[in-house]
Amino acid sequence: MSIHARTQRLTVPQLVAMKGRQKIVSLTAYSSSIAKLIDPIVDFILVGDSTAMVGYGRASTLSMQLEEIIGHTRAVVDSTRLSCVIADMPFGSYQESNEQAFRNCAQVLARTGCDAVKLEANKALAGTVEFLVARGIPVMAHVGLMPQFVNIMGGFKAQGLSPETAAAITLDAQANLEAGAFSLLLEGVAEGVARQITQDSKMPTIGIGASPACDGQVLVTEDLLGLGGEHTPRFVKQYADVGAVIRDACERFADEVRHGQFPEARHCYGI
Ligand code: KIV
Repeated sequence: MSIHARTQRLTVPQLVAMKGRQKIVSLTAYSSSIAKLIDPIVDFILVGDSTAMVGYGRASTLSMQLEEIIGHTRAVVDSTRLSCVIADMPFGSYQESNEQAFRNCAQVLARTGCDAVKLEANKALAGTVEFLVARGIPVMAHVGLMPQFVNIMGGFKAQGLSPETAAAITLDAQANLEAGAFSLLLEGVAEGVARQITQDSKMPTIGIGASPACDGQVLVTEDLLGLGGEHTPRFVKQYADVGAVIRDACERFADEVRHGQFPEARHCYGI
């Protein structure tokens, strides 16, 4: 569906139907203000657990809490009307058992009104993906560089560079597709691996640092705006320096106050 023709929120089946017809565009949002700005531009909004690092300034995504993702997702859903909204399930909210995963994913869907969830899922988690899909939860499976595995990987490193890791990612992808995932998010995956998975998959692949071979691309919005700070991955293209705009506006405000000028557009008395 062309973005220009859209008058209603894009559904998961409509997103899937874009494969092979139109590249899929996605950005992250955690807040109402960013969500409102990107809603008419993207196909889906990811409420990523990257907000732990980008929004809360933490060292990894591991500390993200279910209540936090519910709050951010609710804000994004309430502020948008065109984009499909996908919530990232936090570390520890789905890995314990199928029942725990269902309980928490159902809460996220019911309390936020989002359309789907994303799980970092290697093949060991594919059974959980199958359990969720069979019970009405649409799942995007995140494979390749999985930030919730940072302590196993020993850092945020590109994946699939050796034949062994390339084969492992391919197996993770296949297992999740067989389990019923409606899409694969490929993060930090070598181009050849991303291309092969995309060719073999009936479901759309969404890349981040995974080459143009994917069916669509997602970026952390703050990264492309130049607000990502030291966590911005090297592969990210910066489209704007919004940090400079913010600094300039705040400095001008501070200057006016310090020089005794009245920093409001007009007096609010009597309104
Ligand atoms: O949490 C996040 O923002 C992600 C990115 C890979 C898009 O999962």
